[in-house]
Amino acid sequence: MKTSTRVLLAIYALCNLSGTLSALVNTTIDDTYGDPLTGAQVSYAPESAWNAEGPGTTCAGCTAHPAQASMYDLTWHDGTFSVTPGSDNDTGSILSLSVPFNGSVLYVFCALTFTYDHPAGNSDMQFFIDGARVGAFELAPNGSTAYTYQYPVYVNESIPVGQHVFSLESGHAGNKSLVIFDYLVYSHEENLSEVSTLAPLSTSPQSPTSPTSPAESPAATSAGSWSAAAPKIKAGAFTGGALPILFLSAGWTIWEESRMYWYT
Ligand SMILES: *[C@@H]1O[C@H](CO)[C@@H](O)[C@H](O)[C@H]1NC(C)=O
Ligand SMILES: *[C@@H]1O[C@H](CO)[C@@H](O)[C@H](O)[C@H]1NC(C)=O
Ligand SMILES: *[C@@H]1O[C@H](CO)[C@@H](O)[C@H](O)[C@H]1NC(C)=O
Ligand SMILES: *[C@@H]1O[C@H](CO)[C@@H](O)[C@H](O)[C@H]1NC(C)=O
Ligand SMILES: *[C@@H]1O[C@H](CO)[C@@H](O)[C@H](O)[C@H]1NC(C)=O
Ligand SMILES: *[C@@H]1O[C@H](CO)[C@@H](O)[C@H](O)[C@H]1NC(C)=O
Ligand SMILES: *[C@@H]1O[C@H](CO)[C@@H](O)[C@H](O)[C@H]1NC(C)=O
Repeated sequence: MKTSTRVLLAIYALCNLSGTLSALVNTTIDDTYGDPLTGAQVSYAPESAWNAEGPGTTCAGCTAHPAQASMYDLTWHDGTFSVTPGSDNDTGSILSLSVPFNGSVLYVFCALTFTYDHPAGNSDMQFFIDGARVGAFELAPNGSTAYTYQYPVYVNESIPVGQHVFSLESGHAGNKSLVIFDYLVYSHEENLSEVSTLAPLSTSPQSPTSPTSPAESPAATSAGSWSAAAPKIKAGAFTGGALPILFLSAGWTIWEESRMYWYT
């Protein structure tokens, strides 16, 4: 096969394979340290009903004592809804937390306990995106004193791309209920590179090297960890000025070859 034919075939293959190299990127919003990308913090209401816990912060009134080492970034927020006076003065008010995020996938992680009382291991959570109720997590206690860590109480993988506000509320059913909020993760698509040179094609997509997602490493302590998925190549999303450049260089190669043909 002539070199020029091979070049044309290669270009044809490139046009079919190439596109935008993009990956889903996870960002973790810690209950205490917030979003490492945007600096956004989780807000809690009523403030006095929530207890921030972590290294150096002990909650005198809290009866839930989960293992600090099992919490993402060693921190969590504890809040009890109650219709009878307890360790806080917000008897009867719905507890809530909310935080903005920019993404299309969301995972919300809490620690759970199942004791009947002290702590009241009853889960009664409702979830909202941009003010609309999108889900609930209800789990009655069964007497078990064991804690379950980093449990995904809410997962949504079909959120329209863009900026949103997530909220969690506890207490709508009217029974005493506990929230031990640890962190949430959101994913957004990130373009690794636009195809404007041949470079991205010479490097084949890499599989995840060792992205430790919080769920997989309960004792993760690194603030703002994020992991990249295997980059995927989207066919058909050909952008930029690559096409004309490729054809120009192909044309040049053919012209050069024909000259060589005539002069040799
Ligand atoms: C509850 O209210 C009492 C009296 O107003 C106050 O002394 C106490 O510090 C409050 N407790 C909490 C947890 O806010
Ligand atoms: C209590 O419920 C949790 C969650 O469903 C379960 O994992 C655990 O095994 C149960 N424990 C007992 C003692 O029933
Ligand atoms: C995910 O979020 C979208 C947009 O807020 C909502 O319409 C949809 O019902 C949610 N899906 C789940 C499974 O929560
Ligand atoms: C959300 O993130 C995308 C990139 O993933 C960016 O293009 C967009 O401007 C962001 N939107 C806001 C409101 O920050
Ligand atoms: C609330 O508590 C009452 C009495 O303890 C119980 O009968 C009822 O099933 C509970 N409701 C929910 C939604 O947990
Ligand atoms: C990624 O690239 C595609 C195609 O060029 C474009 O439509 C999309 O908006 C880009 N996304 C981001 C987050 O920059
Ligand atoms: C993002 O984190 C969630 C929850 O830990 C995990 O299930 C998912 O696979 C992660 N996605 C990527 C792209 O790393």
